[in-house]
Amino acid sequence: MKIEGARVLVTGGNRGIGLSLAKAFAAEGARVWIGVRNPDAQDVVLALSEIRESAKGAAVEAIRLDMASREKIEFALPAILKLELDILVNNAGQLTGGLLEEQTLDDIYQMFQVNLVGLTHLTHSVLPGMLLRKRGKIVNNASVSGIMNFPLASTYSAAKSGVVALTACLANELRGSGVSTLTMITPGVKTRMFDEIKVRYGDKMDLSLFEGSVEPAVWSREVIDAIRDDRDMLMPGGATRAGVFFARHLPRLFGAAVASKFSRTGI
Ligand SMILES: NC(=O)c1ccc[n+]([C@@H]2O[C@H](COP(=O)([O-])OP(=O)(O)OC[C@H]3O[C@@H](n4cnc5c(N)ncnc54)[C@H](OP(=O)(O)O)[C@@H]3O)[C@@H](O)[C@H]2O)c1
Repeated sequence: MKIEGARVLVTGGNRGIGLSLAKAFAAEGARVWIGVRNPDAQDVVLALSEIRESAKGAAVEAIRLDMASREKIEFALPAILKLELDILVNNAGQLTGGLLEEQTLDDIYQMFQVNLVGLTHLTHSVLPGMLLRKRGKIVNNASVSGIMNFPLASTYSAAKSGVVALTACLANELRGSGVSTLTMITPGVKTRMFDEIKVRYGDKMDLSLFEGSVEPAVWSREVIDAIRDDRDMLMPGGATRAGVFFARHLPRLFGAAVASKFSRTGI
């Protein structure tokens, strides 16, 4: 798909992978909107100026979008539908982690809402316009956790597996329509969320499993290339790719390998 001139919304575009993706789209000459909880917040103003520095003259703006509830998404939709998007990047996300019984229900409900239910709602709303225009790409930021089922990641992994399944079903539904999907099987990327993994998992898991991580700009470059080539799945490279393969095809062996790095009572 041609990215220059495309109209792109990146949810959670104020920091981390979303900010990096917004900069990469802007550098390709796309018209970029970042979906953010508060467009007037200082970090959003700074993010916009960073994205504009990368932009080749195309306009970049923030749009209010809080994924925290059905009502908040509905509030944002009229403005989003007016954008007539070519590319929707469902990137906003939250991390949950720890033994299931120790995670709070508030965190669990909120994470499923943002990572899976809200992503589904936004996609459901944007698709009819794309289908009418016979042009569009839905890019969903899943995770290696959608395939690799680590202990301590039960709820997050369940949401990301849901994103992988939703996007794969959509790919089949959309064939021949002019609209396509891309599932990002995102590896460890150096962001605030990646640092949070240490806090949530570190006391019960040997985190050498999570040592390999990539810079956001490197991963964003790969996403841009995958969209340009109209691929429907972006896998990580190197040892992470081997881990994903192992988890998918030899789940029992994968389970035994991760069990040796984990202790319910602490390491
Ligand atoms: N980093 C990794 O290693 C990694 C690996 C696999 C997948 N991922 C996925 O990549 C995506 C981006 O993560 P990241 O690493 O860039 O994390 P991050 O730096 O923590 O950024 C998360 C983004 O999501 C936004 N967000 C959270 N709750 C929201 C809500 N209710 N409404 C709207 N936006 C909300 C945040 O906005 P605020 O600033 O307002 O909080 C922020 O922009 C997530 O879906 C994550 O699951 C990350």
